[in-house]
Amino acid sequence: MARIVNLGVLVSGSGSNLQSIIDHIEKGSLPAKIGILVSNNPSAFALERAKKHGIPAAVIGHAGFANREDYDRKVVETLNAHGVELVVLAGFMRVLSPFFLRSFPMRVMNIHPALLPSFPGTHGQKQAFDYGVKFSGCTVHFADEGVDTGPIIIQAVVPVCDADTEETLSGRILKEEHRIYPQAIRLY
Ligand code: GRF
Repeated sequence: MARIVNLGVLVSGSGSNLQSIIDHIEKGSLPAKIGILVSNNPSAFALERAKKHGIPAAVIGHAGFANREDYDRKVVETLNAHGVELVVLAGFMRVLSPFFLRSFPMRVMNIHPALLPSFPGTHGQKQAFDYGVKFSGCTVHFADEGVDTGPIIIQAVVPVCDADTEETLSGRILKEEHRIYPQAIRLY
């Protein structure tokens, strides 16, 4: 029997990657549990998903924190209180402070909707589409102090078709994200 890894998942929005992780755990193909979900956004749909599956969740808004590190201290405290071993960024729209990364060295994973190191930052799909690349995709990597940088764990390639729009391409990339994120966590 594989050891169950205790995950802390950080989200800001829809949480379709969270859903994919939940689905893999529930069907027994990912030996993990989600100890805590943290959202910086009180209206993130990801919170509904967590509730539906009985996953504990914390909303940590930005108000009342003097700076990024103070905010991150609160998040780290919450993750530690739930015994989190691996932090999974699933559409968490904040850059982590060095304090956060030092608290979980090589234990923070991120997913990005492009083939890094190309097209980091926001709207990776649009950047790739506008550039006119013939192949794009997605990347799971360990997070470091840069924006979408750090050692790569898995990538999936998605061809760009002539008929694609940014939306159709993004949809196909997202499908691959849902496949490779649970796979990367399993590797861990
Ligand atoms: C994904 O495209 C992911 O690559 C990026 O943010 C998006 C999150 O989507 N980091 P979701 O909230 O998991 O649906």
